[in-house]
Amino acid sequence: MEQKINIAIDGHSSCGKGTLAKNLAKELDYLFIDSGAMYRAVTLYMLNEGLTLEEVAEDPAVLGNIKITFEYQPEKSFFETHLNGVNVETEIRSMRISKFVSPVSALPVVRDFLVVQQKKIGENKGVVMDGRDIGTVVFPDAELKIFMTASPEIRAKRRYEELQKKGVFVNYQEVLHNIKERDHIDSTRDTSPLAKAEDAITLDNSAMSKDEQARLSLSWARGVIKSLEAQS
Ligand code: DC
Repeated sequence: MEQKINIAIDGHSSCGKGTLAKNLAKELDYLFIDSGAMYRAVTLYMLNEGLTLEEVAEDPAVLGNIKITFEYQPEKSFFETHLNGVNVETEIRSMRISKFVSPVSALPVVRDFLVVQQKKIGENKGVVMDGRDIGTVVFPDAELKIFMTASPEIRAKRRYEELQKKGVFVNYQEVLHNIKERDHIDSTRDTSPLAKAEDAITLDNSAMSKDEQARLSLSWARGVIKSLEAQS
């Protein structure tokens, strides 16, 4: 049987991490986990329950009521996020959640709660996980780490077009502002700020097509798997 590895994909918001991770997982027949979706699901829960950041920080036990699962949708080749049994995949991508998710993800109690679950998912290898701290905190031993980046303007344009396609009408400047603001919060927070792991490969996709990125990253993954197999 082919040797299985874990692949950590980190980078700024709206860099196409999800697309790349999803593609790699499909090609390798691995599990794809969008860790950002988990932070978004916690954010949705807090908004639904009217919980403030202070309340959660003071009483982390409330997080115990949150159960996040991923259900595979074969027709979309995609794992959809469920919060306490309800499919919240669309709702967690809304601007309402995007606006509030960075401060939620900066709460150490929220990070502790989710990192334990993320590490567990990776125990048996064969996982592609994307996020901000996967290569540094969640899977520090991942056999392949990719750090993705692209200019804020390019990312805002892609995100804007994606939302338009989904019928979500937003203002480009608002999207750009949200991306820059999230970059700032994600990179400067005290707990697990977005940072490139020392052993991560940087992938700047500002001028790269989705196919080019997919081919390149798959060749990296296959190279790592081959060299591990040669060693064993
Ligand atoms: O990847 P995304 O935009 O869906 O992530 C949503 C937010 O969650 C983003 O502001 C950063 C945060 N996040 C994080 O802090 N750590 C992760 N591993 C994944 C996401």
